[in-house]
Amino acid sequence: MIGGNNSNNVVTSLILLSICSIIFVLRTPLSDFTVEKQRTYAVHRVITLIEEREIQPKESPEIQLGNQDNLEDYINEVKEYDVCIAGAGLSGAVIAERYASQLDQKVVVIEKRNHIGGNCYDYTDDETGIRVSQYGAHLFHTVNKRVWEYVHRFSDWTKYEHEVVGIVEGKHVPIPVNIETVNTLFGLNITSVEEMDDWLSREQVKYDHTPRNSEEMALSRVGERLYELIFRPYTIKQWNKEPKELGPEVTARIPVRNNHDNRYFGDPYQALPSNGYTAIFENLLCHPKIEVRLNTDYFKVRDNLRCGHTYFTGPIDAYFSHTGYKKLEYRSIDFERKVVKDIGDDNTFQPKFVVNHPSADANFTRIVEYKHMLNQTSKHTVMFIERSKDGGEPYYPVPNDENKALYRRYQELAAKESNVTFVGRLANYKYFNMDQAIINALELFDKDSGLKEENDDHVAFCVPTSQK
Ligand code: FDA
Repeated sequence: MIGGNNSNNVVTSLILLSICSIIFVLRTPLSDFTVEKQRTYAVHRVITLIEEREIQPKESPEIQLGNQDNLEDYINEVKEYDVCIAGAGLSGAVIAERYASQLDQKVVVIEKRNHIGGNCYDYTDDETGIRVSQYGAHLFHTVNKRVWEYVHRFSDWTKYEHEVVGIVEGKHVPIPVNIETVNTLFGLNITSVEEMDDWLSREQVKYDHTPRNSEEMALSRVGERLYELIFRPYTIKQWNKEPKELGPEVTARIPVRNNHDNRYFGDPYQALPSNGYTAIFENLLCHPKIEVRLNTDYFKVRDNLRCGHTYFTGPIDAYFSHTGYKKLEYRSIDFERKVVKDIGDDNTFQPKFVVNHPSADANFTRIVEYKHMLNQTSKHTVMFIERSKDGGEPYYPVPNDENKALYRRYQELAAKESNVTFVGRLANYKYFNMDQAIINALELFDKDSGLKEENDDHVAFCVPTSQK
């Protein structure tokens, strides 16, 4: 009987929740943001936000996994493992999971930060109760079925198709550029793919060679006007370089749509982990054969590690710092946390999870408001204003000729290093999406172990700490 009442209550709550979610989703459709509304909404609210009092980011909660002995003891003791992994990001965690679950090998994962998850790490913001990502918004998308199936072993996923708007000339427009972007910015009335192709073709700059840098690449794809309004100012803010100083791949990565598709990614598989990314890492690493050492710099402990094989997922130039080679160049991001208190359960600061600010008059690149992510509820809202900078955590390799040549020299050193494999985005000096990091790690394990990919169904061994 009680069970019956309970399930009625649950059903009623679910119906109410669904109605609320539908209202929430319908509340701020892009089409509501008419030109007039956009101007005041966008510019005024951003300025108000930036002028608010400073709020310092909170310390992220510490995650305890494995044996966290005193670091001094650990440094001084000789330890033996089948596999040593430097870095508890996606690349390191997937390789650790594979060796432990497939080959029953003893693995240590050494991580210098105080948490697992690498740049995918997320946590619940104390003040607002909203789950946020410490190192910038992470949207999962892939075309790779193997990756999709693999990640489902370690988490439930909620379908989510990411949409971004940019504020350009005071108007909210879809990013990547599509028919609506062009119509809104230039007062046009393009309705079909054919018309958009025609328009783009008239705008595009034609070269008699393949684009040699990011300026030529962007001009060849969108022409002068969109280049000056969106591509050039955003690239300068993001990289502190003119697009012509960067390899063509930077602006080649930005999609341009000839239709009405507002989605940021076109991949067939797109979702967010229902319990966050950190819970996935807890599941990946929660295995009796895996020991995780947080707050531990690999370079401080490696002399006393006896490893059958080592996978290094940190920066390749840090590994070879003793050679005196120049350091590789990276761009980093400063995340400024802002809370708007008592905005109301059904209210958000901005219309979308991510709003880009390409124009030169805003001194930041984008604002990420996590309340939108899986429609989280809170009477407050929290967001992070992103500014690109040199120095700090290495996030984006700077792809120009000088850095590419320097990286090749590091690669030559890496090839001579016996028993160490360099893996992941920092060791490869390459921007990887999460799915690329996963497939690289899986395929590397396939190759090194000689095992076939299909022979397992490993799921989490123990309850992740975030769900206890
Ligand atoms: P990662 O950097 O995550 O892990 C390396 C780990 O090694 C780190 O934890 C580091 O602390 C550790 N380490 C380094 N040196 C060490 C040492 N000496 N000793 C011990 N540990 C050491 N992808 C995507 O698909 N969708 C998205 O939306 C985004 N968004 C996004 C935003 C931002 C701002 C960034 C920078 C990146 C993304 N990504 C992304 C990319 C995603 O973050 C990336 O694919 C994965 O983090 C790659 O995982 P790795 O393990 O290779 O590196």
